[in-house]
Amino acid sequence: LYTTYVILIVSSLYLLRRHFAAAACRNLPPGPRPWPLIGNLLDLGAQPHRSLARLAGRHGPLMTLRLGAVTTVVASSAEAARDFLQRHDAAFSARSVPDAARACAHDSFSMGWLPPSSLRWRALRKVCSAELFSPARLDGAHQRALRRDKVRQLVSHVTRQEGARVVDVGRVAFTTVLNLLSCAVFSADLADLDGSGSSEQFRDVITEFTSAVGVPNLSDFFPAVAPLDPQRLRKRLARVFRRLHAVFDAQIDRRVRERDAGEPPKNDFLDVLLAYRSPDDGRGFDRQTLRSLLTDLFSAGTDTSAGTVEWAMAELLKNPSSMAKARQELSQVIGSRSELEESDIAQLKYLQAIVKEVFRLHPPAPFLLPRQAAATTELRGYTVPKGTRVLVNVWAIGRDRELWSEPEEFMPERFMEKEVDFRGRDFELLPFGSGRRICPGMPLATRMVHLMVASLLWRFEWRLPREVEANGVDMGEKFGMILGLATPLQALAQPI
Ligand code: HEM
Repeated sequence: LYTTYVILIVSSLYLLRRHFAAAACRNLPPGPRPWPLIGNLLDLGAQPHRSLARLAGRHGPLMTLRLGAVTTVVASSAEAARDFLQRHDAAFSARSVPDAARACAHDSFSMGWLPPSSLRWRALRKVCSAELFSPARLDGAHQRALRRDKVRQLVSHVTRQEGARVVDVGRVAFTTVLNLLSCAVFSADLADLDGSGSSEQFRDVITEFTSAVGVPNLSDFFPAVAPLDPQRLRKRLARVFRRLHAVFDAQIDRRVRERDAGEPPKNDFLDVLLAYRSPDDGRGFDRQTLRSLLTDLFSAGTDTSAGTVEWAMAELLKNPSSMAKARQELSQVIGSRSELEESDIAQLKYLQAIVKEVFRLHPPAPFLLPRQAAATTELRGYTVPKGTRVLVNVWAIGRDRELWSEPEEFMPERFMEKEVDFRGRDFELLPFGSGRRICPGMPLATRMVHLMVASLLWRFEWRLPREVEANGVDMGEKFGMILGLATPLQALAQPI
């Protein structure tokens, strides 16, 4: 009871201050009328991306909400997104940091949350772009061989499920992505596809991470109560971070011991990170920075990519004519060869259209990652004050009737005629964001997603288990840090 009183008093004071601040800035974009104290929190509902898309239909593509005590502006059209992410990129490139991300001081070391003015952020982005995600690295013989091995392991695992056992598509895709990433970083698998032992534990930690960050947190709506951590989410995330750090520390310590013992370098990303020296002061990355970077890479890279594969397979099982078309294209391009090569992807235009269509309908991060106005900015005749939280509803943009005909339908064909890409230049399709904060992992993610979907289609005939077939695939969404399927996709795979 005492905590509730404190929360109420502190929030009221905060709100009064906000009220006067808002009064001073009357030129905010329009939006629904806020309730006292809670503002528009009730408008969010269980599926905020859908609720805010509906509200934008009434109030416009640039809309203000008061979420608790926090003024939030939501962009819901391609042009409004361009305003924030391109025209005013510098003013909106900082993040609004969720309170849970402050656990273990993660936000002070993390590429995902540091402001772009930070030297550490720049160093981390630079080293990742040059040494992990550059075309030279990704298309080099080593990384290509890694992807081929991991996809082979995926195919042989699914082959072993032939017959009665259903394939949990999201789970096998997750393990494949996780191992691919961990081999690129540590030259070691962190999981095994049979789901035994430590692999499941690591997956559980990542799942716990995404679910803890995805829970709506009172502290993010009423920053004044954040020190009390009323939902204990910061504490929960601190436990997750510690478990992840223990895994990463073990890898780093082993590598340092091997180096000290004179073992040859592995030439993976961990070697690069340990050898890194700042051009400014000659110093390397400290342990906390390494832990946060690895936490970011593994948490941002796995569920997003695996979720995309799962949505793609769900859409294809729901739309058998698209599945048949994709398989026909695969046989045309691959012909009588037994194995699909990564170089085939460039010719698989329909497969590429499928992936775009999946990103349009199911962007893994429906609001990107939250941004924050670093300076008061005039935009479309409105004023967005410094400190405003900014969300870009890319889910709503993907279903905008002015941009897409029959937007609710899964129609990859639309991309056969339309020259629209998802790499951050076309604002109608922004699954990876845009501007200086665009997802750095995009080049790796796109290679993995195309390759996994193509291999699953090329090597297997897919159908739904009888009990699922009766009702069709459940396409319900689970909103969280990642927009996933509410019911994990289970399917039967018959090797061809
Ligand atoms: C940031 C999407 C895969 C690492 C982001 C953002 C989005 C996103 C929307 C925020 C962009 C913005 O604010 O404009 C995706 C999708 C993926 C994916 C849809 C897969 C389908 C990956 C992979 C990695 C990765 C494979 C690394 C292994 C990151 C990091 C950030 C980020 C570190 C934060 C960057 C920063 O704030 O400077 N991603 N991502 N992502 N992503 Fe990805």
